[in-house]
Amino acid sequence: MKISVIGCGYLGSVHAASLASVGHDVIGIDVDADKIDALSQGRSPIFEPDLPELLSEGIASGRLRFSTNMADARDAELHFIAVGTPQSAGAGSADLSYVDGAFDDLVPYLTEGDVVVGKSTVPVGTAVTHVADVEARGAHLVWNPEFLREGFAVKDTIRPDRLVYGVAYGDEYSVQKLNEVYATAIESGSPVIVTDFATAELVKVSANAFLATKISFINAMAEIAEVTGADVTKLADAIGHDNRIGRKFLNAGVGFGGGCLPKDIRAFTARAEELGRGESVAFLKEVDAINLRRRERVVELVTEELGGSVFQKKVAVLGLAFKPNSDDVRDSPALDVAVRLNGLGAKVVATDPEAIANSRALHPQLVYGTTDEALAGADAVVVVTEWPEYKQLDPAAVHEVVRTPIVIDARNCLDADAWADAGWEYAGLGRQVKNGRA
Ligand code: UDX
Repeated sequence: MKISVIGCGYLGSVHAASLASVGHDVIGIDVDADKIDALSQGRSPIFEPDLPELLSEGIASGRLRFSTNMADARDAELHFIAVGTPQSAGAGSADLSYVDGAFDDLVPYLTEGDVVVGKSTVPVGTAVTHVADVEARGAHLVWNPEFLREGFAVKDTIRPDRLVYGVAYGDEYSVQKLNEVYATAIESGSPVIVTDFATAELVKVSANAFLATKISFINAMAEIAEVTGADVTKLADAIGHDNRIGRKFLNAGVGFGGGCLPKDIRAFTARAEELGRGESVAFLKEVDAINLRRRERVVELVTEELGGSVFQKKVAVLGLAFKPNSDDVRDSPALDVAVRLNGLGAKVVATDPEAIANSRALHPQLVYGTTDEALAGADAVVVVTEWPEYKQLDPAAVHEVVRTPIVIDARNCLDADAWADAGWEYAGLGRQVKNGRA
């Protein structure tokens, strides 16, 4: 099928390349000329496993092209809207200007029988504001939310765990078209759920609200564990064995970040308030507050471990991305912790396998280095993103290079006993300090 993908960021670039990989003829369109230039040469503007390979294959096959010109969408019969919906400046609501702009620019090029497919995460009630303009061109509108996780984006796109189509009443035509687009995924077992627009929009935000709530729940238990002597990691294992609860997304630590969960719960709260149902999701404000408190707690732990002040102390901050296998630092708790410690006068040296360039663009005041540079002579080591290379650090070897063997495991990802046995003072979140220092 001939497909256009409007917006080539974290979502659109992966979507375009994945659709080309399953045999479609795809044009990716974005207003950012540098991004289009890189993508056209097969270079991925983001760090995402498997994406570079898919881009090169797609471009070589001739099935994947990129352009800054919306007129190039004219030949396509399906048009995916994959632009961002960031948090509005100074408010919790979603900024819909990119979505509105994409529709305004695309609509003149639509022809009879085209299907416009919204993938961006939008407040409930957005699709309905665009349907008249699309239908006036004889085209159809569908809302088809995306559930991909960064780091697994290609896998999640090619074989999603569910496909949700929000369609206008009785629009079988669009359902058939989307079934054709996603034939490979459907054949390999991805279930399809057809809904109205509002349900499809809500599925996305409620899924993210649920995940955020689950993480803040376990982080709230970590707060209780900290004052009672309990261990939140064992608590998570124990309650996670109940398959009504499940162990996934029960990792207590510095909390959630990224381009989705934080802004999506805030936008959901703002939208519910607009709808006069603020009280229905008022708990999401608490979810957000618990999450933000964890960053403060990490800074507090580092301060406590350093005897009450971080001033002039060298702190190695391991990790800047909001999670491993990503270079994304949007609302990253790791970067936030580095910035806060630096602001308190610590000599922070921050490192990350992939996210230094993005961090430096936002916070040029921080000192960045390699893992070795960060660890050399450190008074404390803080692990804030659970990259495999940090989990695999040898505590005995690292002990040799630091000044003081203090480690703050802000992701509870290290083997606490192994670090304590190697002579470290180990402090996790929601667990007791283990003092292995002689
Ligand atoms: C999320 C949703 O998972 C995805 O379905 C949606 O499409 C977009 O938002 P993503 O932002 O890529 O995906 O990251 P995710 O893997 O969900 O992690 C979000 C944050 O929660 C990360 O900062 C992660 O470190 C944190 N997290 C996750 C925890 O703190 N504890 C956990 O147990 C799980």
